[in-house]
Amino acid sequence: MPHNIHLIAAARPNFMKIAPLYHALADQDWCKVSIIHTGQHYDANMSDDIFADLMLPEPHFHLGVGGGTHAEQVGKVMMAYENICVNVERPDLLIVVGDVNSTAACAMVAAKLHIKVAHLEAGLRSGDRLMPEEINRLVTDAICDYLWTPSPDADENLRREGHPESRIIRVGNIMMDSFELLSDKIDAENAPAKYSLETKTYGVVTLHRPSNVDNPVILKKLVDGLVENSKKIKLIFAVHPRTKKNLIENKLWDDFQKHENLILIEPISYVPFMSLVKSAKLVITDSGGIQEETTYLDIPCLTLRDNTERPITVTEGTNKLIKPEALSENVDKVLADDWIHGTKPDKWDGHTADRIRGIIYNLLN
Ligand code: UD1
Repeated sequence: MPHNIHLIAAARPNFMKIAPLYHALADQDWCKVSIIHTGQHYDANMSDDIFADLMLPEPHFHLGVGGGTHAEQVGKVMMAYENICVNVERPDLLIVVGDVNSTAACAMVAAKLHIKVAHLEAGLRSGDRLMPEEINRLVTDAICDYLWTPSPDADENLRREGHPESRIIRVGNIMMDSFELLSDKIDAENAPAKYSLETKTYGVVTLHRPSNVDNPVILKKLVDGLVENSKKIKLIFAVHPRTKKNLIENKLWDDFQKHENLILIEPISYVPFMSLVKSAKLVITDSGGIQEETTYLDIPCLTLRDNTERPITVTEGTNKLIKPEALSENVDKVLADDWIHGTKPDKWDGHTADRIRGIIYNLLN
């Protein structure tokens, strides 16, 4: 009998982490891999379109939990996933990725049912417990059997917290596998042309962290900063549903749309988004994953956060943490070509899924 493996997909940033692993396992006769979509993200442009881009099949199980408060989301995911494990299909191994609410929820279900759990992207720490993701990272790593990390800082964080060495394996950054897998499609997409943008003459913007967009004072500051900087370089902003909702509620949305050099678009799928990023002069973001993708592509990344769980993008890559007040001077630096050229961290090489397949084979056989 092949071993059952469950992969949890919940929110947009998870999909590019499970896709390479799904593809690396799907054709193996010693395992049967199933995708469980918790439904934390549900709009087509936050979910189905990205599944299609990443050549993922329809999820084998869909839990359909939708939005809600943190407790509601975690509770609903736990109840629904426990039902799958107990009544439908008990996996021999559960793999959770990243740091969203569903990651911690499913890891808890499995740990309590004595199902082995692996955390892919283990060990990242921002040190900031005001971030819901930091709580999810701590909880998940505390109860997982296998901790698969992307970088040496993550290994160190886990050692410092007392995790035994035998649990920690540095596998590399799986998101780079997705980028390499779809590299030809990303080049063929030529997304900039669709928005009449020319290579290296525009910036890409994404903002969705509660610490930036849920606070009306900070949100206004960011809006003003983007408007001001769009006078220097065209900016294309893929507006996350949380951000759009807050812009509308705070009556900022109508005016924000009226600036010629500020192009506001709906969230877009993986291939067009990476096509936009690859040809951008700079990126302004508060995302986690984009800090890594820009380091991989040697593109200046201005991260509007006080801290990052991905410090290697600052120490080895092209990322800089900035305050909203410092946006303009940092955009000027990029435009003057006064920016760091980074290096690609070790094992960010497009072969992370192959390494993990080998590890899982040894664990299960
Ligand atoms: C979640 C993750 C965050 C990740 C982000 C990527 C947690 C704690 N947060 O935050 O780590 O960086 O996803 O996007 O797990 N909404 C829609 N359509 C959707 C999804 C959400 O309209 O498909 C709306 C929700 O109803 C809610 C808002 O967007 O109003 C926020 O969604 P939610 O999933 O709660 O958190 P994110 O901010 O997306």
